[in-house]
Amino acid sequence: MRELIEGRRIAGIVSCLLAGACLAAVAAAARGAPPAPRPAETEVRYPRDPEKLYSYRREHDPNGIGKFYMGREIAHVMGFAGAAWLDRPERETEERLSLLIESLQLQRGMVVADIGAGSGRITLLLAEAVGPEGRVYAVDIQQKMLDLIAAKLKRRKLGNVTLVRGTAKSPRLPQAAVDLVLLVDVYHEFAYPYEMLYEISRALKPGGRVVFVEYRMEDPRVPIKRVHKMSEAQVRREASWPEFGLRHERTIGVLPRQHIIVFRKVSGVLRSTTPGGPAD
Ligand SMILES: C[S@@+](CC[C@H](N)C(=O)[O-])C[C@H]1O[C@@H](n2cnc3c(N)ncnc32)[C@H](O)[C@@H]1O
Repeated sequence: MRELIEGRRIAGIVSCLLAGACLAAVAAAARGAPPAPRPAETEVRYPRDPEKLYSYRREHDPNGIGKFYMGREIAHVMGFAGAAWLDRPERETEERLSLLIESLQLQRGMVVADIGAGSGRITLLLAEAVGPEGRVYAVDIQQKMLDLIAAKLKRRKLGNVTLVRGTAKSPRLPQAAVDLVLLVDVYHEFAYPYEMLYEISRALKPGGRVVFVEYRMEDPRVPIKRVHKMSEAQVRREASWPEFGLRHERTIGVLPRQHIIVFRKVSGVLRSTTPGGPAD
């Protein structure tokens, strides 16, 4: 019986290799390593044409890119020069990062993704929270940010973080592999928000969460430029395309400046065009 099972296992691996589709996954499993990021060039077929969801205006906010999605302008990406701002000591008082991490109710051993990781300030907190038995994918589109994180990881001797150079359309995460995706102060910068959220949904395990942390547009006292803020209603609208399979679970209001908006993946990501659009 054991030989039969073993034989089937080997046959499965051989056919997998012949198909040429899971070489990296087999190698990773053999090493006990986390699944590798997907190649950047992987072609994705979206359930609807994302370009039809975007519009472009010549006159626009100077802090935005002139591209609009569902009624709001997309912001410029914060460049590497902003890394020191992300690491400012007073950020803990202003944004209560430790309270944010506590609110996520992480457990040791979880797999989390910090998309738009920037200088890695939050990546390090996540790496400590999930422990050596867990894993953090730190994703950014700027190599200089990833280099900064690599240096911090070396200094802190943290071995549970995988650095991923994402693209503007994809975090290149393995599919159905992540318990929680964290988006701190980045979603409003995504140049392709529909494509990114579609890919994020595909990376979540069934029942996994995606958490948006955005400066509150509703509060004029929050000292952040307009296109870098988002209202709760706007985030909920943008996450509600049925093909994402996400359901709003709760919005946590404990932070001084930001919403913590939590969605759970409740159904599989749809591949074909679905009738109906986002909720009002
Ligand atoms: C304002 S910073 C926030 C950094 C970090 N989340 C924090 O709060 O400390 C935004 C970061 O998101 C990155 N970013 C922008 N668009 C991205 C995308 N499509 N995929 C991954 N990272 C992205 C930028 O390069 C930048 O490092």
